[in-house]
Amino acid sequence: MKGKSKYMEGIRSQFPLLNKKVHGKPLVYFDNAATTQKPQKVIDRISTYYSSENSNIHRGVHHLSQVATQDYEDARIRIKNYIGAAKENEIIFTKGTTDGINLIATSLGELMNKGDEVLISAMEHHSNIVPWQLLAERKGITMRVIPIHKDGTLDIETFDGMLNEKTKLVSITHISNTLGTINPIETIIKKAHRAGAKVLIDGAQSIQHGEVNVADLNCDFFVFSGHKIFGPTGIGVLYGKESLLDRMPPYQGGGDMIQRVSFDQTSYNELPFKFEAGTPNIVGGIALGTALEFMESIDTKQAFAHEKELLAYAEKELLKIENLKIYGTSKNKTSLVSFNVGTIHPFDIGTLLDKQGIAVRTGHHCTQPLMDFFSIPGTIRASFSLYNNKEEVDLFIHALKKAISVLS
Ligand SMILES: Cc1ncc(COP(=O)(O)O)c(C=O)c1O
Repeated sequence: MKGKSKYMEGIRSQFPLLNKKVHGKPLVYFDNAATTQKPQKVIDRISTYYSSENSNIHRGVHHLSQVATQDYEDARIRIKNYIGAAKENEIIFTKGTTDGINLIATSLGELMNKGDEVLISAMEHHSNIVPWQLLAERKGITMRVIPIHKDGTLDIETFDGMLNEKTKLVSITHISNTLGTINPIETIIKKAHRAGAKVLIDGAQSIQHGEVNVADLNCDFFVFSGHKIFGPTGIGVLYGKESLLDRMPPYQGGGDMIQRVSFDQTSYNELPFKFEAGTPNIVGGIALGTALEFMESIDTKQAFAHEKELLAYAEKELLKIENLKIYGTSKNKTSLVSFNVGTIHPFDIGTLLDKQGIAVRTGHHCTQPLMDFFSIPGTIRASFSLYNNKEEVDLFIHALKKAISVLS
């Protein structure tokens, strides 16, 4: 047990920001579902890129451009291997999860017709709702919502009945950012495929907390953001099956995505460049590769088990508090906990926690329809990562009790 926590503390020591003090108190960073902190390795990689490699990619014959191009493309290969994709041309760099979903809604959406159906779930982030509403306005498709049970699990029976010949796509989150529910995506993918539909998985929350293998899953698309897995903001990934990406029209037009341009006609570049118009976030892509290198360097089995232990411990301690209600009680749950205490507004608790150095998120977590489902304005969400520890959970519980006593 001691050796094990020493190992996890060794991982923690690679994240410099965690040594910070906030309002004179040691920072307890429990907002990992919003974004993760960065290991020194990633921070150094960004600095090295700008101090000794900075150049534009793909177009230059000069040395710097070739080095930057190589590093950027190496990162693509690392990402391909990390998520188990078959080919690197199935890895499209994006700005993040939101951008990836919008790309699919715009491009795949062009191949959809009035009356076609896209299924999402009641626990989706706004970024997996609004792009389909925009597509509904543009193309007359119908967005349908798979309901959930009160414990925050998906209503699979109803989902079964919703699938039909009009279902073109099931676009669903792997893990709920608000409830922590881990959806049975293997089952969902199989059922959707049997009905002839394609499947897009929003992996924003799962990429950090478990092994993802797109080949084993057999999903058609998988999207995630670099900043949720210890990489920079403004970079993300869309994985798509080559056969589908080939059939889809470009998302944006501009440099790099073309083969030949004339005023009469333009032909497009091959994958993945067809979907990567303009100068990309070069350093972001490279540093995301470094973040995955970090993940490969650690014992993820131990790290993920550690996160689960933190969740179990935090939930046990939270449930000892009077009038505290946890939202999202699925047995299969990631390391985050959403809750409210009586009628106290989550924002008030969040503010008093901040004064004690505890960073949690309060509000609707970009899932307003889910808040409507529970008839609440928001929750307090504590989300744990592999660098958090039990002592921090104790500080959090102590600070929470103090906040409640002030507000009651
Ligand atoms: C489940 C889920 N989907 C999508 C997003 C959007 O990610 P981004 O803002 O990085 O594009 C988030 C971010 O919190 C999320 O948790």
